[in-house]
Amino acid sequence: MRALPTTDPRSLMRQADIHCAFCNGAYNQLGSTNKLQVHFSWLFLPWHRWYLYFHERILAHLIGDPKFSLVYWNWDNQANVGGNIMPAMFNQQGSALYDAKRNQNHLPPVLNTLALSDLGNTNLTNEQIIQDNLNVMYQSVVTASTPDLFMGKKYSAGDPEPNIGGTLENAPHTAIHAWTGSDKETYLEDMGNFYSAARDPIFYAHHSNVDRLWAVWNTIGGRRRDHTDPDFLNAQFLFYDECGDMVRVRVEDALDNSKLGVSYLKVNGDKLWLNFEPQPLSATTTTTTTTTTDVTPKSIDEIPELGPSSPGKSATNVDKKLVSLAKRPTVIPQELLDKGLAQEDLEEVLVLEDVQVPRNVASHIAVFINLPDADANTPLSIAEYVGSFINVPHFAGEGMDMSMRSVIVRFGIKDNLRRLGITDPSTITVTIVAKLGGSESVPISVKGIKIEYE
Ligand code: C2O
Repeated sequence: MRALPTTDPRSLMRQADIHCAFCNGAYNQLGSTNKLQVHFSWLFLPWHRWYLYFHERILAHLIGDPKFSLVYWNWDNQANVGGNIMPAMFNQQGSALYDAKRNQNHLPPVLNTLALSDLGNTNLTNEQIIQDNLNVMYQSVVTASTPDLFMGKKYSAGDPEPNIGGTLENAPHTAIHAWTGSDKETYLEDMGNFYSAARDPIFYAHHSNVDRLWAVWNTIGGRRRDHTDPDFLNAQFLFYDECGDMVRVRVEDALDNSKLGVSYLKVNGDKLWLNFEPQPLSATTTTTTTTTTDVTPKSIDEIPELGPSSPGKSATNVDKKLVSLAKRPTVIPQELLDKGLAQEDLEEVLVLEDVQVPRNVASHIAVFINLPDADANTPLSIAEYVGSFINVPHFAGEGMDMSMRSVIVRFGIKDNLRRLGITDPSTITVTIVAKLGGSESVPISVKGIKIEYE
């Protein structure tokens, strides 16, 4: 793939450009002046599955081994001999799998951080990183109990740039991009920016694991099933196949991995996060290495309530952190009742509305409930942590706002509420802790905070 000329769509450079074309506003959607974007919505998982499928078929064809299969980098594996380091096979100079544009401070045996928790506190012990990673996985995969939460929301033909990605995309997936890319490059190339990410062969192993985790989520049960909306099933993409011919594929045909000849072995390390039991901070002070300076909750009347977003409302700067009250919902919307959902099937979703993040800066937020004193040093392994959002720097297409991107960030919090023993109070506190990479000049802001049934 590396040796092929760039006139060949199967060359590594052209393969990487396919990713760029679908992610940086290179093309308009068919019949629309709106750009095509395969991140930040329900298209994220199926598009990348098809991308890997053709990448694998091309490699198999080029080496004349139809049985060839891509490897996955199971960065979620926190077992002793785990995948939570950069895999050795990608780290040998001179190998076709090597890429010099990687963060040289993150070579083995440095553990990866699935919500970049080490940006706030670079003295984290390996034990704490492992516990944090397990809870990031638990919150991003297990407690994301609906398709909207886990896969991301609807994005249909003609829609403008989507802005509601799923929890797997928003946290561990983007964290691995930013963690792997070189901190010496302006935009964290290669892995840390969508335009260059797929130039690094580790990209395909990274995304194979994203794909595997989608398959694991499908097995957990409850409401964790793929979207069934025809706009999802009928979405189509173009790829080059192993002969270099352009082919058109549909989302629906990617939903059953066995039809693509793909299957994943059961990984024992999954159990560590599938069965993770985060404890409330008060119950874990002996195991936390970095306690916040003051864990006494402020009096609740000192904390403002940001409330839901509304037209004309101005945004509030998060700066390093923002604490707000949020009311829990009391009425179940008719549309959920109409779906025949019982009360116990309903998820409570914390929604951060119109979060403005600088497009070209690696930034992230971590969100806690009922822990007003949470800060950049608060461990992520606790029951108060509901999840993270990490922005991978990327460019916008022509005519789009290059500077800021508005996103809606959603977390399922029912499991957290149960673990914290919150049954009665109708109001909880929400703490957003924000960190910006680069020159910390553009603050993240948020327009609304609400909790809704889903
Ligand atoms: Cu298309 Cu990991 O991004």
